Amino acid sequence: MSACTSLKLAEATAKTVAVTGSKGGVGKSNLVLNLAVALGRWDHRVLLVDGDLGLANLDVLVGLMPRYTVDHLIQGEARLEEVLLDGPEGVRILPAGAGVPDLVQMNEERRATLFDGLSEGAGAADVVLVDTGAGIGPTTLALQLAASRVLVVTTPEPTSLVDAYATLKILWTVDPGKRVDLVVNRAADDDEARRIYKQIANAAAQFLDNRPGSLGAVYDDSHVTRAVRRQQPLLELFPDSPAARCYERIAMQISSTSAPRQPLRHYWEGLLAHTRKELRH
Ligand SMILES: Nc1ncnc2c1ncn2[C@@H]1O[C@H](COP(=O)(O)OP(=O)(O)OP(=O)(O)O)[C@@H](O)[C@H]1O
Ligand SMILES: [Mg+2]
Repeated sequence: MSACTSLKLAEATAKTVAVTGSKGGVGKSNLVLNLAVALGRWDHRVLLVDGDLGLANLDVLVGLMPRYTVDHLIQGEARLEEVLLDGPEGVRILPAGAGVPDLVQMNEERRATLFDGLSEGAGAADVVLVDTGAGIGPTTLALQLAASRVLVVTTPEPTSLVDAYATLKILWTVDPGKRVDLVVNRAADDDEARRIYKQIANAAAQFLDNRPGSLGAVYDDSHVTRAVRRQQPLLELFPDSPAARCYERIAMQISSTSAPRQPLRHYWEGLLAHTRKELRH
């Protein structure tokens, strides 16, 4: 291998962040999309992976119609460049859809080509943000385990708190060292977010012997729903709205913390290995 090639490989690293929260409708997709837009605006190369197996909807949130998904890549019916969507602020979106578990069945050669493309070519990124969808299925868990950090989204509703705690429990049972931070969405204010955070963090400290970090609040703000209806990211449509400021505050923390970057190839191979393992259980 030439010095030039090894230098290139050494540079292909990214922060990998999975956004989760086992309850449906808590605000995962809007969080992940607006974090992507903020980071893209600040010149990060962002790859946004739609890992929601039920109803992929990041493309809907930005008003794009994907012609292809990862399924077409896996079948060899489309190239990576055709599958990736060009979102706002240079963000590239991988409409993964139902294809993630099929990675396991993919033939070795095609998978190597795909991972090359995602690590070095069209999909190369500084930050990979993954929307994991609702529930705690095998693929959702694999997406969380592969990422170097996980954001768990909760709302102040008790049902959501219980689900957030359950997510921490499952995740830390499999990987006690996983870095996890909570985001309290739809909070009335910072005080409420702090109270909700403490409730979950104290329960985790007592029963799981582990403590999540806090990334603060996203305020309950009707602009979010209006942006969804207009199929535009909040940060573009209402950049001065209260929730937009919260998304920016969280993006700033992700951008500035010295979270370890991992080689992108390791990320994709790790995802494959975790998917294999979780599907066997
Ligand atoms: N901060 C907020 N303020 C007000 N409404 C919000 C906020 N966040 C989310 N919502 C509302 O909740 C809806 C669901 O949000 P979103 O699609 O991001 O949730 P999700 O967790 O990704 O859902 P799913 O589990 O179905 O994928 C939005 O369409 C919006 O109406
Ligand atoms: Mg969603």
